[in-house]
This record gives sequence, structure tokens and C-alpha cells, in this order.
Amino acid sequence: MAAHCEEQQTILEIWGQTPLKGEVIISGAKNSALALMAGSLLCPEDCRLRNLPSLVDINRMTQVLGALGVKIERNGDILDINAQNIGKSQPSYELVSQLRASFFVIGPLLARLGETRVPLPGGCAIGARPVDLHVRGLQAMGADVRIEHGEVHACVKGNRKRLQGAKIYLDYPSVGATETIMMAATLAEGETIIENAAQEPEIIDLADFCCSMGAKIQGAGTNTITISGVERLHTTDYSVIPDRIEAGTFLVAGAITQSEISLFPVVPEHLASAIAKLQAIGPKVVIDGPNRLRVIPAPLGGTDIETLPFPGFPTDMQAQFMALLTLSEGNSVISETVFENRLRHVAELQRMGADIRVKGNIALVRGVPFLSGAPVMATDLRASAALVLAGLAAQGKTIVQGLHHLDRGYDNLEEKLRKLGANIRRVNVLSGEETKEYISAS
Ligand code: EPZ
Repeated sequence: MAAHCEEQQTILEIWGQTPLKGEVIISGAKNSALALMAGSLLCPEDCRLRNLPSLVDINRMTQVLGALGVKIERNGDILDINAQNIGKSQPSYELVSQLRASFFVIGPLLARLGETRVPLPGGCAIGARPVDLHVRGLQAMGADVRIEHGEVHACVKGNRKRLQGAKIYLDYPSVGATETIMMAATLAEGETIIENAAQEPEIIDLADFCCSMGAKIQGAGTNTITISGVERLHTTDYSVIPDRIEAGTFLVAGAITQSEISLFPVVPEHLASAIAKLQAIGPKVVIDGPNRLRVIPAPLGGTDIETLPFPGFPTDMQAQFMALLTLSEGNSVISETVFENRLRHVAELQRMGADIRVKGNIALVRGVPFLSGAPVMATDLRASAALVLAGLAAQGKTIVQGLHHLDRGYDNLEEKLRKLGANIRRVNVLSGEETKEYISAS
């Protein structure tokens, strides 16, 4: 409870319309790092993960692994993990309910132990977030999976101790379900084929990580992934890819403040749809070398956006692009097709003067000449980033509350923006003093 109260104590104060300049360092990808941390449970030897971002979600996943008996030590952006003695203990509901991604441990635990119990993750602000595709995939591989008392109890059927390879068709290219099945299949008996698999870059990163431990995976990044099970995985030293969503957020920061800024390191092909959409709006994105991008500002035109599984436009960039389009000289239609409740930032943007109408999961955004700074409340992770971006462009002062959402997924966002010249600071509401304290790096 204390932690939650503490989280409410800090706010961001942003004075808008300050141009940005310079280069921002992009951190490791949250949505890859969380999956790789779960994947380290597959290995009974030392695993080293590099380029980990400093995020609340990473801290929480570290706690989840610790609760499972994993030896885990963080030194800066390096995480040393040893899952040799994963016990019969399980992560508490409190831990799992704070981090949905902790459910990703179910596949590796079942593959290693033959039986496991993981609390069912609840829904969250953006949707119900069911796990039926994860469960059906594990059942197809010979697991008996029952949901009882809010827990998913999975065990390999019969006297076998190993899951069996299977051909699995995903009704929806779910990122998490693809990751759960792929990880479980690395130690299964025989071959597993995942059809209609998710193609996100984080899937490729997880496959590359598992292959670096001796797994046999082909086709990651396409809609068909083939995994040939092996008996045991071995030690690895692996670096996480840069965070494409953080990078996309900074591309919008440049565009919305009419500033030219550079981003490094990035993988340009991970951002192809966001770059294409940004250029359709007006700004130019220049690839300066293999892993550096530069955004060159331009007047903003309206455009339409439909969020889709990769390689379509990412749902995790929808709120940020909506903030940008509120200032375009045209009209835009934004359709959120991935999650059922991911337009909650609209009401907060309207408080800043945005002209947005919502019907179901579709938002009609009419550009306005300017936004006005206001106190606003973040409702989920990417919505909080959108409100910061709107504050950077707005006239006057914006106060963003609900920073516990932001700190889950952005590594020191305000520090990175300040280094680019933004007039932004984190303030402790009780003392009114500026504070750097956003998460304990432990
Ligand atoms: C991952 O969530 C990301 N999280 C999300 O990022 C991201 O928005 C999402 O993929 C889509 O790209 C992590 O990687 C930790 P899904 P995930 O399974 O795996 C439905 C952020 O902001 N579905 O691809 O949970 C589901 O309800 C976060 O960084 C089922 O119906 O996403 C949703 O409508 C938010 N049954 C759709 O699929 C299932 O068993 C996409 O979900 C699983 C999912």
C-alpha cells in the first residue's frame, strides 16, 4: 500500500512549446526483456541478459523469478540469472496481478518441471486480456490445464514428464501465446509448429535468445514457427534489442514539437509502419547509418490509422500518434482493433483542447491549431506517454498524474526529454520539490 501511495506522490510538470534538439539513447525493449526473463527459466545454468531497461515491470519480473527460487542479480543493465533450482513455490497473486507478463512463466515452468500453478492474470485498463490461446496451446502439447480458484494449474498428462510436440493454429496472432508455446516447445518431445504466429520483433528476439541456449527454432518473424524440442538448454550471454515503442515515442516527440532530433540505437525495420505513418503525416525520418534515425519536422497533415498485429501499425503507438494528430491541419480516423478499451486517453486529450469524437473503437480526430496545458491523469502505460507528448506541444503548463503507469514502461523518460531541452520535471506533490526518485533500481 505504501508503495502505491508513494507512486501517487510524484507528478510531471511540463511547460510546452520548447523546441528539442540533440540525440536520445534508446533503452532495451521492455516487451522483449520480460519474455527473455521468463525464457531464462528454461535453462538450468547461468544466463546473462544485457541492455535491460530500468523499469518497474522489470523489477516486478525480477521479484517473480526470485519467488520461484531463481538466483538473480542485477548490475546496471545486466541481469545474471540462474534457474537451476526452481522450486515448487509459485509467484503470489499480488505479484502476478501487478505484472501480467509474469504469466509468461507458465510455459517454461511446465517444460522444466512437468507441473506448475500460476495465478491467472486479471484484466487491465486496456482490456480483459484473456489467456485462452496460451492454455489451448499447452493443452495441444499434452498438458492437462485447469483453472481453479483464480489459478492456472497445468501438468503434463500421464507418466510422461515432457510435453509433446504439436501443430497449433492460433485463432489470433497473439504475442504472448506465441511466446508461451514457443518456449514450452523448446524442451518438448518432437516438433511443434505454430501457425498464424505473431511476427513482432520481440518474438524474433525471444527465438534468438532460446537458440543461443541451444534451442532449435525456425521461422520466428513469419506466421509459421517450427520448434524441434531438445533435452536441455545451456548457458548464454544475450543482449536485448532496442525498444521500438520508446523509439517511436521519441519520433513523435520530435514531430509534435517541430524539432529535429536523433535516436540511437534503433532497428529501423522494427519501426517501418510507424515511420511510414509519420511520413504520411508530414515529417521526414532519415536513417543515419545502421542503427540511428533522425526526424525532420514538417507541417502536420491528417491521416488514418488502424492498429494491427506486426507488421501492421502497432497498438502500442496508437495513443502517441493520436496526440500528434490532434495538432494536424486535417482530420484523422484512428481505429483500435487490437484491444477493446485503449482509447481512454481521449478524454484527457480533450481536456487539453483536442477535438476528438469516439464511436466504439474508432476515434475521429479533427486537428486544432493548438493544445492548452492542463492537469491530466494517465490511465495506462502508453496513454501516459501520449499525455507527456501533448504537454510538450501545448501552450502553458501541463501536469501529468498517474506516473505509476509511465514508470512501468519508460526508462527515465523525463530525464531523456530534459537532455533534449524539454522544460519538464518530476515533482513530489507533498514537498513541491523536484525529485529524481521514480523507481528503485534494485
Ligand atoms: C503484448 O501483450 C505486449 N506486452 C503489449 O504491450 C502489446 O500491446 C501486445 O503484445 C500487442 O502487440 C508484452 O509483450 C509484455 P496479445 P499480449 O496476446 O501478449 C487477445 C505495452 O504497452 N488475446 O498479442 O498480452 C487479447 O485480448 C503492452 O507495452 C486473446 O484473446 O498481447 C488482445 O485483444 C500493452 N487470448 C489481442 O489478443 C489470448 O490467449 C492481442 O493480445 C491472448 C490474447
